[in-house]
Amino acid sequence: MAKVLVGFMGSGKSTIAGLLDPSFVDMDAYITEQIGTSITEYFSVHGEEAFRKIEQVALVDLLKGEHVLSTGGGVVIVPANRELLSQHDDVVYLQADFETLYQRIKADKSNQRPLFLSKTKEELEALFEERRSWYEAVADQIINVVGKTPKEIMEAIK
Ligand code: S3P
Repeated sequence: MAKVLVGFMGSGKSTIAGLLDPSFVDMDAYITEQIGTSITEYFSVHGEEAFRKIEQVALVDLLKGEHVLSTGGGVVIVPANRELLSQHDDVVYLQADFETLYQRIKADKSNQRPLFLSKTKEELEALFEERRSWYEAVADQIINVVGKTPKEIMEAIK
């Protein structure tokens, strides 16, 4: 069964997934390969709703694997995805406070997220507030990642 990492942008899902499983699957990379363009480009041309549809199909496919799966931060906004994740037995939420996440997202020049580019800090915080209880609801394990090294986080994951 796939071990699934969820959490807001900047929570370290891909980094930790890579440490847990060198052949982990990154949902954003999987989608990028399918759409043949960057997620930022796709958002600007087709809109977020079209992206969410692709993301939903990808989740169904990828939950079937035996790998560690790093999800996109917005996977929990679709009720059907929350249902799937709730039923799945190995979901880990990498939890952090908004300010920590915001500084990380801002500093990550190699991955400029479309929502970071299109929203104010206040709007992003509202997104975070909306999503946090959803991450908690689907998780089997919650790990506060603030102040922990990747190795410590990895060791905390069952
Ligand atoms: C999104 C998070 C991104 C990516 C897309 C939308 C979101 O993934 O799926 O930009 O809505 O939070 P990461 O959480 O891996 O940055």
